[in-house]
Amino acid sequence: MGDDPASRVYVNNKKKACEELGIYSEEYALSEDTSEEELLKLIHTLNEKRDINGILVQLPVPKHINEETVINAISPKKDVDAFHPVNVGKIMVGNFDFVPCTPAGVMELIKESGIDVRGKECVVVGRSNIVGKPQAMLLLHQNGTVTICHSKTKNLKEKTKQADILVAAVGIPNFITGDMIKEGAVVIDVGINRMADKKLVGDVEFESAEKVASAITPVPGGVGPMTIAMLMKNTVKAAILQHELN
Ligand code: GUN
Repeated sequence: MGDDPASRVYVNNKKKACEELGIYSEEYALSEDTSEEELLKLIHTLNEKRDINGILVQLPVPKHINEETVINAISPKKDVDAFHPVNVGKIMVGNFDFVPCTPAGVMELIKESGIDVRGKECVVVGRSNIVGKPQAMLLLHQNGTVTICHSKTKNLKEKTKQADILVAAVGIPNFITGDMIKEGAVVIDVGINRMADKKLVGDVEFESAEKVASAITPVPGGVGPMTIAMLMKNTVKAAILQHELN
């Protein structure tokens, strides 16, 4: 909804990924002043449509729309973002169909890099519903020892310095600097911050961090493409699950 420039880029990238994979997609670009009722009506229609397996409402929504009401309206079976409380609860329990895309992408990067999470000190900086909280759960499911920090954490450096695996998802440009990172740590930067000069920077100050980290993701081109790949994976899974049910 509306014309948030970052959302436009994300939605375009998601549509492009669908095209590349042969996944049919529909876009409903609703104007900023669309009512909540109208949006909910559209979600209900898509919930019922048998040829649609996944529904995603790109966030943020305009101020007059209640984000929670919108997320709750999406059928949990079609909730490919895994934002619905039913899916969030399943992640907590550890028995889930859909994994939130960004934390899932982070886990995939860790796995594909041959890094074993078991017993490692994992520090997640950020506590959002989209990234920080589910990220912590996924690391915990892999037997990591997990600490969640955030912008109000006291002695943050003391905590981040302990991390074997550090995930930055706080949304503050260059918030984590090299001196806050343990020698040899794995650093994953989820932040995508657009600076005044239009440059994209992460939550980690890359130049100082790469000198101490054993592995580090860049921004852009690190976690971002993984998020989209995981969205595609969730969508295929949704289709399979719905066909099994029918
Ligand atoms: N806005 C920022 N990240 C996301 C995401 O992963 N999904 C949706 N729907 N909106 C977002």
